[in-house]
Amino acid sequence: MIGRVVAVSGSQVVATISEDAGSAERVEKGQLVKIPLPQTHAFAIVSALSIPMPDTPVRLMELALVGECRHRGDGGRFHRGLSAYPALGDPVLAIEPRDLAAIRGAEGPETIPLGALHRGSGRIVHVDPDRLLGRHFAVLGATGSGKSCAVASILHTLVERGTQAHILVLDPHGEYASAFRDRAVVLGQDNLELPYWLLTGEELVEVVGGGRDPGPQRAAELLLDFVARAKGAYRDANGDHRPAVDAPVPYRLSDVIRLIDEVVGRLDRTESVAAYRWLKNRLEILSRDPRFAFLFGGIAVRDDMARILGTLFRIPADGRPITVVDLSGIPNEVLEVVVSVLLRLAFDLAYWSRGRIPVLILCEEAHRCAPSDKSRGFAPTRLAMARIAKEGRKYGVALGLVSQRPSDLEPSVLSQCGTVLAFRVTSPHDQELVHALLRDDANGLLDFLPSLGDGEAIVLGQAVPFPVRLQFPELSSELRPRRASPSFSRPESAEEDPIELLESLVRAWRRR
Ligand SMILES: Nc1ncnc2c1ncn2[C@@H]1O[C@H](COP(=O)(O)OP(=O)(O)OP(=O)(O)O)[C@@H](O)[C@H]1O
Ligand SMILES: [Mg+2]
Repeated sequence: MIGRVVAVSGSQVVATISEDAGSAERVEKGQLVKIPLPQTHAFAIVSALSIPMPDTPVRLMELALVGECRHRGDGGRFHRGLSAYPALGDPVLAIEPRDLAAIRGAEGPETIPLGALHRGSGRIVHVDPDRLLGRHFAVLGATGSGKSCAVASILHTLVERGTQAHILVLDPHGEYASAFRDRAVVLGQDNLELPYWLLTGEELVEVVGGGRDPGPQRAAELLLDFVARAKGAYRDANGDHRPAVDAPVPYRLSDVIRLIDEVVGRLDRTESVAAYRWLKNRLEILSRDPRFAFLFGGIAVRDDMARILGTLFRIPADGRPITVVDLSGIPNEVLEVVVSVLLRLAFDLAYWSRGRIPVLILCEEAHRCAPSDKSRGFAPTRLAMARIAKEGRKYGVALGLVSQRPSDLEPSVLSQCGTVLAFRVTSPHDQELVHALLRDDANGLLDFLPSLGDGEAIVLGQAVPFPVRLQFPELSSELRPRRASPSFSRPESAEEDPIELLESLVRAWRRR
């Protein structure tokens, strides 16, 4: 016994700490305790400790009740919430390993191990992947706090357990390519295929404008008009029915350019040809630019959308359910368009499959895709993200959002995440945000945020029975996502000729 209840109000309990508890069991904030009641064991987290009057030996612990195990009926399973409350004078006990076994989440074929419970003598907390993914999850924390390693660990486990999910990792820094080896296919600048005809009008206008230069005002309007006509021409040649304006049906870029020429030929002299010229010029530049080959490459237009989707989302998975989309080589000005297309395709795939093809989208640097500042970023990307956040679970599209700047992430998207893995947070601004987001059910655990170690997180929400502090498993170096971390003290590769290095980087620089 470590104490006795002296006050109860709602789900808060105050208990004295027994004088002899100090030697046997140190009571710490964040620790789990239990209170035996006639029908149940109530469980609580120590949320604060104090000595109210410094000159007396009275020591107090504040407890937040989190749930209970019933003595009879359901095999001692843990339930959130309480059917009975402690009374004054009830003893407070330290928990034993068998209690942890009951509350760590039912371990079974369908659960996956997440991490080791803090002060839980190596006890691993298991979670149900349907709960973790089904309601989306967010991984927040300062740079270097262990977010990407934890994500890799979760994905490794999901794959080992034979997940049904098709996993798409949006990897802006190209750090996951090596982490999954034979479990993933890496698509990058060289082998990503996202033909221009999959783009909506808005996305195409953004690409053609290069993100910076919107061109003459009428150009966007003209482009959409010509695309509609080119789609018509392709359809007539192939005998399809009339597609909706933004439907992902093929058309030929050469038809668009030919149509521009035709119209320009028929214009009378008073009309300006500037918009037409600009448009044709941009389309020709883009279709020749090797950096954009993933969009405009491939001379023959084929209606092979099923194959493209199959490649992107690993259908069939063939034991490699993960696609890592290495975005590090994608030209910056179209990065958000590419993410927009991928998010849209994932949602539509799940939508049209009515949930038969579940997809998990793991989005690193999520604050770039859905920034809280509405004036930044590409609006359709934000919309695609918001749509998955709001409606994805109905159709089996899960989001895993990773961000080191949670305060820059659109709050409405973040608030849709049912489970939050909060790693070390150092900036006061971000701490405030995480507190505001989660305070209600964190039971004081969030006070640990600035002092968590690498790979340590507070996990709260749908996936865990109550907020827990976990240590994620130590990943061996070949399973870790690898961000280049240049050394200032050791030469990385002594053999490399510095002149050759310079030459090759200048070549790459110019190509970009
Ligand atoms: N679970 C873990 N297993 C092994 N090493 C880890 C683990 N967690 C963190 N580390 C160590 O901490 C470093 C940083 O971890 P990680 O790359 O996951 O941080 P991050 O939160 O993703 O940072 P950033 O926001 O900059 O991407 C790793 O390179 C590794 O050395
Ligand atoms: Mg990272």
